[in-house]
Amino acid sequence: MPELAINGGPPVRTDPYPPWPEVDDDGYVAAVERVVRSGRWGGYPEPGPNAAAFEEAFARYQGARYGVLMANGTVTMEVALKALGIGWGDEVIIPALTFQATAYAPIAAGALPVIVDVEPTTWCIDPEQIEAAIGPRTRAIIPVHLGHQMADMDRIMAIAQRHGLAVIEDCAHAHGQRWRDRGAGCFGAFGSFSHQSSKILTAGEGGSLLTDDEGLAATAHSIIDCGRAKDPEGTGFTFGANYRLGELHAALLTVAIERFPEQQEARARNGRRFQELVAQVPGVRVMPPDERITRWSFYNYIVAIDPDAFAGRTNHVVARALAAEGIPAAVQYPPMNRYELFDPKRSRLPVAVEYADRLDPSRMSFPVAEEAGLRASVYFMENVFRDGDRGVEQAVEAVAKVQAHADELPLP
Ligand SMILES: Cc1ncc(COP(=O)(O)O)c(C=O)c1O
Repeated sequence: MPELAINGGPPVRTDPYPPWPEVDDDGYVAAVERVVRSGRWGGYPEPGPNAAAFEEAFARYQGARYGVLMANGTVTMEVALKALGIGWGDEVIIPALTFQATAYAPIAAGALPVIVDVEPTTWCIDPEQIEAAIGPRTRAIIPVHLGHQMADMDRIMAIAQRHGLAVIEDCAHAHGQRWRDRGAGCFGAFGSFSHQSSKILTAGEGGSLLTDDEGLAATAHSIIDCGRAKDPEGTGFTFGANYRLGELHAALLTVAIERFPEQQEARARNGRRFQELVAQVPGVRVMPPDERITRWSFYNYIVAIDPDAFAGRTNHVVARALAAEGIPAAVQYPPMNRYELFDPKRSRLPVAVEYADRLDPSRMSFPVAEEAGLRASVYFMENVFRDGDRGVEQAVEAVAKVQAHADELPLP
């Protein structure tokens, strides 16, 4: 009789983890119904009433002065770069372990993404590598707060100030996080957030920029609204396109932000318990949240496995075995030089052709991101942490079971 569910044995968990998003008729359905009945469905004139209400509420929660809601958390970064005047001929430093959107955004703005390795203790961008990559064309840094961590904002802001660089934080995983009591997305010129289906503040689609700068907020509003002027005089036209979010989605977000604090607390509480328990499984290394994180609010919790302790099996095999045990676990990102989605020669963008040699994956080496993406990282999805003690205990039981029987897993 096989032990592991992936080989036909009984899974650790047979009932599903709580669905995401948590739907309730009084909140989401009622909010959407109000929009439907109002007849004002679209995002024009920009911002619509629900968009404006969410922008204000989310900016306040996170600790910024202005929010700008738009279509998704990819164009947010493109718009941020354009609002800062960053484009042709400029370089933007990004980490080697992230979703491809972080690299797409500079290319879409016409700039070259300069990809650097991540730190072994957080898997977020390595400040030493940022310093080493700065050149005469560098204009901005996009740190990504990956999984349950935050990038080292103390060092990144110091480097940015020393070199006169803009910082745009990619906070797609970090709604609610705080670093030394300051909200993620409130450090640099802009913070960028995704509200895509899996994200912890979601409307299915959507993205937000946060900023403290009134002028930058007005420029971002203009860029997402076909370049229309947004300044009080009505003269500040920009070059833009339609990246507006419709009011149906915005209405969902006005409800989601009300539910958010309670969900964040539950995830943080269960995350701490998970971390304590999973650290005891042989071959599992936890990377506790940086001590400077003063409110812990995460999207995925990421552990590092040592393939030697898993009979030579690597993260992809282990994650598949965990999924078969009924645990929402996966490997989210390969290192940037192995990204199939992100192949600049295939994108056929002029900038990619011009910079093809500098973006040639075969010329890149990111030892830390490669170890993480190809061998070690296993991401546990947010709903593992919304199911009380049972949810995290079963996830840990599954990790221990897979480790104990790793020699029965298929070789990669
Ligand atoms: C790190 C990171 N950046 C950016 C994005 C892009 O967000 P969106 O899917 O809303 O475009 C995502 C998620 O999908 C992400 O995980």
